[in-house]
Amino acid sequence: MRVYLCKNYEEMSDLAAKTVLSQVLLKPESVLGLATGSTPVGMYERLCRAAEAGEADFSRITTFNLDEYLGIEPENEQSYHSFMKKNFFTRAKIKAESIHMPSGSSEDALAECTAYDEAIAAAGGIDIQVLGIGQNGHIGFNEPGAELSSGTHIVELTESTIRANARFFENEALVPKKAITMGMRSIMLAKTVMLMASGKEKHEALSGLLSGKITTSNPSTMLNMHPNAIIICDEEAYNG
Ligand code: PGA
Repeated sequence: MRVYLCKNYEEMSDLAAKTVLSQVLLKPESVLGLATGSTPVGMYERLCRAAEAGEADFSRITTFNLDEYLGIEPENEQSYHSFMKKNFFTRAKIKAESIHMPSGSSEDALAECTAYDEAIAAAGGIDIQVLGIGQNGHIGFNEPGAELSSGTHIVELTESTIRANARFFENEALVPKKAITMGMRSIMLAKTVMLMASGKEKHEALSGLLSGKITTSNPSTMLNMHPNAIIICDEEAYNG
């Protein structure tokens, strides 16, 4: 595991964007695993600027997002579909047919899970998986618990995740209680994983990850077993 300690959010976003840009430069047909949330917004901004300046070409990439709320239409402003369109897909001109996101409105959610894993495998697996980290150590929506799921699955969000995500909704009651998320297997099979952590509120989860111990009560700790994990964090997340 390589750990990069950055001064602040801006430096972290710079380094994360450079890492993704090098991946795409070296392999223009890269399969990118993408994440939503506040953490990667600065990275997406830099990737969009690079695309708009003609310094990056995303025309041949394929993308798979980690997760989506369940019971929410893609057009809903709070959906992760909308987040990705606004923060990355539109400005970086990612082709619609290259974008994959779990559907939160599928009639048959279980079939959707199987199809999602098959689509990742058919694309040749993920070259680089971008990850944030929850205050409780979740990656994607793989929440802490006695067990972790390997494949794409439906999850009940924990109280802490619902509370943390309430800031994107009018009130906490409107935060969906369930989500569909890539499982640990797809994340661990990515050739490279790049986890970003910024801010004091991520300190505890990040410390667990950096301790080197592995526990399902902090799912991010599984990354200690990944052969090519990059952790990019800022001083607040690192020092608390
Ligand atoms: P955040 O979420 O980037 O909005 O803090 C990270 C996560 O929950 O994985």
